[in-house]
Amino acid sequence: MAADIKKIVSGMTLEEKASLLGGDDFWHTKAVERLGIPRFMMSDGPHGLRKQDDKADHLGINESIKAVCFPAACATTSSFDRDLIYHMGDVIGKECQAENLSVVLGPAVCIKRSPLCGRNFEYMSEDPYLAGEMAASFINGVQKHHIGTSIKHYAANNQESARMSVSAEVSERALREIYLPAFETAVKKSQPKTIMCSYNKINGVYSAENEWLLTKVLRDDWGFEGFVVTDWGAVNDRVKGVAAGLDLEMPGNTAGNDAAVVKAVREGLLPESKVDECVERILRVFYDYAENREEQVFDRAADHEIAARIEEECAVLLENRGILPLNPEKSVLYIGEYAEKPRYQGGGSSHINSFRVDSALSESIKAGRKVDYIKAFPMDRDELIEEDLKKAVETAGNYDAVVVFAGLPDIIESEGYDRKDMLLPASQIRLIGELLQAVPEKLVVVLSNGAPVELPFSGKVSAILEMYLGGEGVGQATDRILFGEVNPSGHLAETWPLKLSDNPSYLNFPGDARKVKYAEDIWVGYRYYDKKEIPVRYAFGHGLSYTAFEISNLRTDRDSFTDGETIKVFADVKNTGSRTGKEVVQLYVAPENASDRPDKELRGFAKTELQPGETKTVEFEIDARALSYFAEDLGDWFAPTGAYKLLAGDSSDRISACCRVQFAAKKMLPLHLDVDTTMGELMTDPRTAPVIQKMMA
Ligand code: BGC
Repeated sequence: MAADIKKIVSGMTLEEKASLLGGDDFWHTKAVERLGIPRFMMSDGPHGLRKQDDKADHLGINESIKAVCFPAACATTSSFDRDLIYHMGDVIGKECQAENLSVVLGPAVCIKRSPLCGRNFEYMSEDPYLAGEMAASFINGVQKHHIGTSIKHYAANNQESARMSVSAEVSERALREIYLPAFETAVKKSQPKTIMCSYNKINGVYSAENEWLLTKVLRDDWGFEGFVVTDWGAVNDRVKGVAAGLDLEMPGNTAGNDAAVVKAVREGLLPESKVDECVERILRVFYDYAENREEQVFDRAADHEIAARIEEECAVLLENRGILPLNPEKSVLYIGEYAEKPRYQGGGSSHINSFRVDSALSESIKAGRKVDYIKAFPMDRDELIEEDLKKAVETAGNYDAVVVFAGLPDIIESEGYDRKDMLLPASQIRLIGELLQAVPEKLVVVLSNGAPVELPFSGKVSAILEMYLGGEGVGQATDRILFGEVNPSGHLAETWPLKLSDNPSYLNFPGDARKVKYAEDIWVGYRYYDKKEIPVRYAFGHGLSYTAFEISNLRTDRDSFTDGETIKVFADVKNTGSRTGKEVVQLYVAPENASDRPDKELRGFAKTELQPGETKTVEFEIDARALSYFAEDLGDWFAPTGAYKLLAGDSSDRISACCRVQFAAKKMLPLHLDVDTTMGELMTDPRTAPVIQKMMA
C-alpha cells in the first residue's frame, strides 16, 4: 500500500478520528478534507448493484441506477459451483469499479434455520460448510478487483421478526457448529474486507457491542483483518461497540455518537489506541480501493447474458417423469403470469433496478417454440381469472405439454418480515389440481420462489423445475432448460420438508420480540431430519438431470490420521446416460455410532461435467476439523479417537459409496473430577485408569 496509514492516523485529531467511525450519509463515509481523505461509497448488493444516487434508503424502496440483477443466493448456492460464484463475484467487482463503489454489501450467509425467514432468498443454505465455501469464492471474485465485500449479518440473524430487538438464545456449540462457520470459512479463505454485524442480540448482547463475537471469535480465533460495520442503524451504544471491536457505524448522521467517542476517550473510559486501530482498519480497506482504481465499463448487456448463463447452472430439477426436456417441435401451453412477468428477485435492500428482464414466454417465442399462453392468475395476488381457468382446462388437452409457472407473489418474501406459512397461493394449487384432472400425464410446474413451499401435487405432476429467484436472465434459462438446450445441474442447498410443522425450529420460531430460543440446538436442516428419520419432500442436496450418473469407489489415500494431518478422499463418477451433464458429488462425514452427533455432515463437494459414458475421479481433502464437534468444556474443536464413515452421493438421501477411516486424537477433553465422578469414568479415562487399576490391584 502506497499510503502510510499509521502516519496518516498519527496526524489526525481525536475529533477527526472519531468522525471516521461514523458514516456521512446513507452510503458514504466521511471525508477529512484537511488531510485529503475523500468520502467512500458503499452499496447493496449482493446479487447486483443497488447504487442510489439520491433519495437513499435501506429498504430498497427508492430507485437506484439501472443495474444487472443476478440470481439471488437461494439460486446461486444451488449451483454447488465455486467457480461459477467466483465468476459472478468477478463481474460484480468490475461493475463496482466502473461505478466507483468501494464496497458491495454482501454476501449474506445466515443459516436457513426456518423456511419462513423472509430473507432466506438472500441467504445461502441450511448447511454452514456449503454457505462458507460459496461465500468465500464469491468474495475472492469481487475482492480480486480491490473492491471490499461485507459478509452479513454477523451473527444469528435468522429471522426478520423483531430483528432489531430479539435475542437469539443459542448455545456456543450451535453457534460454532451451525451459525458461525460460514463466516469463519469466508474469513479464513477470503478475508472479506468488511463484516456487517447484525441488528439482533445474541444471548442478551447486541452484536454491535458483543466483544466475544467481534473480537474473541472474529479476530483472535479466526484472524479477521478487515473492519466491522454495523448493519444500517444497528448501533445501540457506540462507545461500548468500539470497545467490543466495532469499527464503523452506518448510515450517516452520527455526530452525537462521534462526540460520545471523543468524550469517552477524554474521560479515560476508552483507550485512544482503540480508536486508532479502528481508523487504521477502515482506511486500509478504502485506500486499497483508491490506490487500485481500474478502468472498467459497466457493460449491462454483456452482464445480462452472464446473469442468464449463471442461472442455467442454478435451477434444480426436482421431479421428472420423462416429460422433460420438451421436444421443440411439439406444441406447449404456458399458464400463469410468471411466464410473462417472472418473479426473479426478492424485496428489501437487495432489490435491483433491473436493466432488462427476460421472460420465459418471450424467450420461447424468440427461440421459435410453438407456445401459447394463458394468464389464468396474476403474479401479485392469490386470485384466479375464472374464464382463463376454464379456457386452460378446456384447451390443455390440445397441447403436447402444459407448463404452469407457479410461485410466490413478491409481497410474501421480503426483508423486514417473515412468511406465515409455507403454502403456495391457494389459487395456484386449485389451478394445478384442475389441470391434473384434464391432462394428468403432461403437466409441468416451473417454480419461482426464494424458499421451500409445500407441494401437495409433487407426486402427481410430470415434472417440477425450481428456478428459485433467478435474476433478470431467468426467462432465457427457463426456456433453455425446458427445451433441453441446457441440462439442469442445480442441487438443493436446503431441505424441503413435507410440511412446516416438521421443521425443527417450528416450536420456537420466531419467538417473541425479546427472545427466540434455538431449542433445536445443532439439529438444523438435514442434521435433524436424518437423525429423527422424518420423511421430507426433497432432501438437502437433491437435484435431477436429463442424464444419469453413478458415484462409486470412495477411497482414501490413508487408513488413519491424527490431529494436524490431512487425508485425501477420492470418488469416481460416471455419466451413465446419453447426454452431457454436470454432477455434484457430495462428501459427508460422521463418526460411527455417536448418538449426539448428526448422521452425516457435508464436508466436501465437487461439480464436474461428464460426456456420456465418461468417468472422472473427484478429489477432496479432510482434516481433523471435518470430524470434529465443538466441545464447550474444551473451548475448542474435538474429534474423538475412533472410526468415521465417509459417504458420497448426489444428495444427502442418495448415498452410493461409503468407506471408513480411523482417527487417533492427540487432544483430550478436560477431566473434571468431583464427588459425582463415576468409577466407570475413572477406569476408562487414560489419565486416571492406571491409578485406579493400581488401587484395585
Ligand atoms: C439490511 C442490510 C443492508 C443495509 C443497507 C439493512 O436494513 O439489513 O442487509 O445491507 O440495510 O441497505
